[in-house]
Amino acid sequence: MINDKKKLKQVAGSFPTGVTVVTIKKPSGDIHGMTASSFLSLSLNPPMILFSVKKENEILKYIEKGKIMGISILSEDMIDESNHFANFKLMKEPPVFYDEDKVKILKGSIAWYSVLVIKIYDEGDHKIIICKIENLNVKSNKRPLVYYKGYSKINR
Ligand SMILES: Cc1cc2nc3c(=O)[nH]c(=O)nc-3n(C[C@H](O)[C@H](O)[C@H](O)COP(=O)(O)O)c2cc1C
Repeated sequence: MINDKKKLKQVAGSFPTGVTVVTIKKPSGDIHGMTASSFLSLSLNPPMILFSVKKENEILKYIEKGKIMGISILSEDMIDESNHFANFKLMKEPPVFYDEDKVKILKGSIAWYSVLVIKIYDEGDHKIIICKIENLNVKSNKRPLVYYKGYSKINR
């Protein structure tokens, strides 16, 4: 059993990922967003993705089977949006969304998905959210925001 949380975080942070913001409509009609780097392309046939959510995160209150969500893939100039939806530092001006196929996508994202929740697994202190891809598109060829020991620029 590994008890050294610092080491766990250090090693996990040594694996570079992209950064997404998952958006979902609350019962009130407002949009809730959460920054997620656990996003993964799961299957091409059928097209599926997954991400994991810490059990105490608010977004879990709104996620259930059959719900539709937006996934925005952030560009390298979207650190402020990433920090906003991680509740690290709220933006002065509210982030701007646009509509794509029944979901809200963050302006400036390099690509997006609309996805339907099909399974939720309970594992450790997280839940794994498995989704079917409903629609998707690439919006720009900007570089992605990369998370690696903090926000990081890809070697060029
Ligand atoms: C780059 C980055 C990636 C993150 N990835 C995840 C993730 O994959 N899953 C998760 O549960 N939290 C992740 N977080 C933390 C959540 O974004 C943060 O806990 C947020 O406040 C949860 O939102 P909510 O409680 O309002 O739903 C990440 C934070 C950052 C900055």
